[in-house]
Amino acid sequence: MEAVTPMQEVLDHINATIGQNPDRGKTASYIPDLANVDLNQFGIAVCLADGREFHAGDALTPFSSQSVSKVFAVALALGKVGDGLWSRVGREPSGLAFDSIMLLERENGRPRNPFINAGAIVTTDTYLAGSTPKEALGGLLRFVRDAAEDSDIHINDAVARGEMETADRNFALAYYMKSHGNLSHDPQLTMGTYCHQCAIDMSCVQLARAGRFLLGGVKGLGPRLVSKTRARRIQALMMTCGHYDGSGDFAFRVGLPGKSGVGGGILAIAPGKASIAVWSPGLNSYGNSKLGTEAMEALAKAQDWSVFN
Ligand code: DON
Repeated sequence: MEAVTPMQEVLDHINATIGQNPDRGKTASYIPDLANVDLNQFGIAVCLADGREFHAGDALTPFSSQSVSKVFAVALALGKVGDGLWSRVGREPSGLAFDSIMLLERENGRPRNPFINAGAIVTTDTYLAGSTPKEALGGLLRFVRDAAEDSDIHINDAVARGEMETADRNFALAYYMKSHGNLSHDPQLTMGTYCHQCAIDMSCVQLARAGRFLLGGVKGLGPRLVSKTRARRIQALMMTCGHYDGSGDFAFRVGLPGKSGVGGGILAIAPGKASIAVWSPGLNSYGNSKLGTEAMEALAKAQDWSVFN
């Protein structure tokens, strides 16, 4: 039988090769604090279903989770309104950039899925119902901290402020949806909450631990925060919509459900086996981490992890 390379060796090798690639992509330029992040950082962390954890590179350095937070936000919104969420947002890939407005007009202000910005703004608007933004964000942070079993996870106010000041396109999406009756709050309130949600900082180790809530049914891996069915459905959304117009490419190359953010983070799940987080701030043309995608591809290949077995 072929010997299996120990996980720590695999991660060290990925860090020493892909993690040091000089062709690193570009940081997101439209949020001031993200534009200035040092491109030369790379971290990767894995939480296995048997409880063992491994990491390499800058895996303890906090980064801006950005759209990866949408995984936790949709879990929270589903917990609040259940399948009622789907009357306001769809479950289909958009095939367009994360901040595209194009389909919204054709589809009467109902966004394609909860991971593109328009859909995530509706998701935020949903979990905001009946609370102040502060309370709603407190609930979201509680969810993430419980999932990671780590109270040292915070919102980066400077990132949130910077995003709010440059959020013209997201405001356009919010106002457009409001004109179709698909936003319940003043766009200022929903957008303020959304920008703070995107500004949750986590390290790869914290994110991989937080992602364990999707491993579902695995004993000893933190509290069960969502049902097995819900965890499966969130992963289905990650697989089909988690990388925007690059979702097909990620599925093809990695074969695992994943969610990216413009901070350069990616969370991926090997169902029943592992929660994986990678971070490298340089993005590819889809707005997904360039080296992060390459690292996920290499790790999935090394471990023979795929949902298409
Ligand atoms: O709404 C935005 O523009 C950001 N806060 C999040 C976008 C994002 O991370 C897209 N991911 N690739």
